[in-house]
Amino acid sequence: EEEIFKNVISHAKEYGFVFQSSEIYDGLSAVYDYGQLGAELKNNIKTYWWKAMVQMHENIVGIDSAIFMHPKVWKASGHVDGFSDPMIDNKDSNKRYRADQLLEDKIEQYYNDAIRIGIDERKIQFPDEPELVPTLIDLNHIRNKIKEGDPIDLSKFSDLVQYEYNSITKSDDYNKAISLQIEMDNALKAEDLPRLKALIEEHKIQCPISKTSNWTDVRQFNLMFSTQFGAMAEGAEEVYLRPETAQGIFVNFLNVQKSGRMKIPFGIAQIGKAFRNEVIARQFIMRMREFEQMEMQFFVRPGTEMEWYNKWKETRLKWHLALGTNPAKYKYHDHAKLAHYANAAVDIEYEFPFGFKEVEGIHSRTDFDLSQHQEHSRKKMQYFDPEVDPQTGKPYGNYIPYVIETSIGLDRFFLVTLINSFEEEDLSTEEKQDSRSVLKLHPALAPYKAAVLPLTKKDGLPEKAREIMDMLKLDFNMAYDEKDAIGKRYRRQDAIGTPYCITIDYDSLADNTVTIRHRDSMAQERVAIADLPKIIGDLVSW
Ligand code: GAP
Repeated sequence: EEEIFKNVISHAKEYGFVFQSSEIYDGLSAVYDYGQLGAELKNNIKTYWWKAMVQMHENIVGIDSAIFMHPKVWKASGHVDGFSDPMIDNKDSNKRYRADQLLEDKIEQYYNDAIRIGIDERKIQFPDEPELVPTLIDLNHIRNKIKEGDPIDLSKFSDLVQYEYNSITKSDDYNKAISLQIEMDNALKAEDLPRLKALIEEHKIQCPISKTSNWTDVRQFNLMFSTQFGAMAEGAEEVYLRPETAQGIFVNFLNVQKSGRMKIPFGIAQIGKAFRNEVIARQFIMRMREFEQMEMQFFVRPGTEMEWYNKWKETRLKWHLALGTNPAKYKYHDHAKLAHYANAAVDIEYEFPFGFKEVEGIHSRTDFDLSQHQEHSRKKMQYFDPEVDPQTGKPYGNYIPYVIETSIGLDRFFLVTLINSFEEEDLSTEEKQDSRSVLKLHPALAPYKAAVLPLTKKDGLPEKAREIMDMLKLDFNMAYDEKDAIGKRYRRQDAIGTPYCITIDYDSLADNTVTIRHRDSMAQERVAIADLPKIIGDLVSW
């Protein structure tokens, strides 16, 4: 599974989907650039979302608000005071960690180090329960290394350890390691530092997770990026790069409602960049410092929010599944612990090669955000509802609407799309070995809808092919390729997810027909050139 993920990442780079930002300078951590095909795929995902959310709903409109917002917005929203992660620094290594992910991360590091120094991968187990600190030291391994005179970086505990898990192993080494750990803990508790030092010396141990290493206290680290607004250093104001697009919708709630004469229930959607100074950023485009969100706030009458929450929960999962994904790859994760503003929340999770992870969140945010903005801006955030309440016989009148939010990470969904569509197919026959890499993208998401391929570079075939390009390129994003043998060109299109290849051969000159090759089945059929717009249009439409 890890292997698949690695292959997807290298495939994404090799074919121009995703590059590391500033790669020639060794990259910028957790920032990525979308290449020529990545930009197309990303745009197609945006279009799919926008169509489904805005165009298909008469009561939802889309906006595009600025990334910079008044600093008070983030005070009102709670981000200045509350949008932070517990953080801890290792004073020895000068590295910063998210306290809650520290253990998980360390294990990953040890795992990699252990493999690097040649420990059998099968012997390494991951603990499922993060509160149980793995404390295993393979004493024999250490002794052997020292005996053999191998160079060992003694500052790195991870060079010296093999992790196993106490419920799994009962080996001698394990027991020794546990007693050692207990001895160390006791020494620490008794503040018997000379004893502790001696143990560390004796066993060449420096455990970053145990209390023996030099950690700072856990501190709260705000995830918002800030910058100076205004040209002068003096008098410049500190502003934040938005950590979510949602607030741009909340502050425009009345602008849109009034100018668009919107009636509750109605929604406002937008797609845009968000920025978070994530302490731990990893797993490719899963957790980035600059990313894009596709969010929609749906404004409803108080008391009806659960009905809408359930509706959106269902509707959004359908959106994911409409792309043909195996439903077993998706699940809901209902939040037991709720954020202070929410009265219900669920994640839509996808099974990545590293496990089920959140792709989208649906939150019932009550009137929290609008009330906060009303309080901080001193502007009324109320809506007048003329509809008559059957219970009182009077109009519902003025109230601050409740909000159901759907929020999906565009980059994360891009990753879902890549992982979900990437296949390495074995096409070997008895005569010869063969395989292909193919992206089985939904045709509507594919960067190119079809590729035009003249069989040879001469005899008028390229000219005929160009005519076909001209006929189709206004309506469809088309690829043209005349380099290399036709089989090789098919494979190139398979690898970038082009659903159809149109091949122009000598018969095409005579009878105005071409071959269409289907990416997934590799089946070929003969069709009239004049029918191509309709055929491709039907095949790639939603
Ligand atoms: N307005 C609500 C909100 O922002 P969130 O759960 O913090 O909620 C919503 O983020 C979605 O944005 C997530 O489900 C995820 O897909 C995406 N997301 C959040 N942080 C991200 C990051 N650092 N990198 C990539 N995507 C991220």
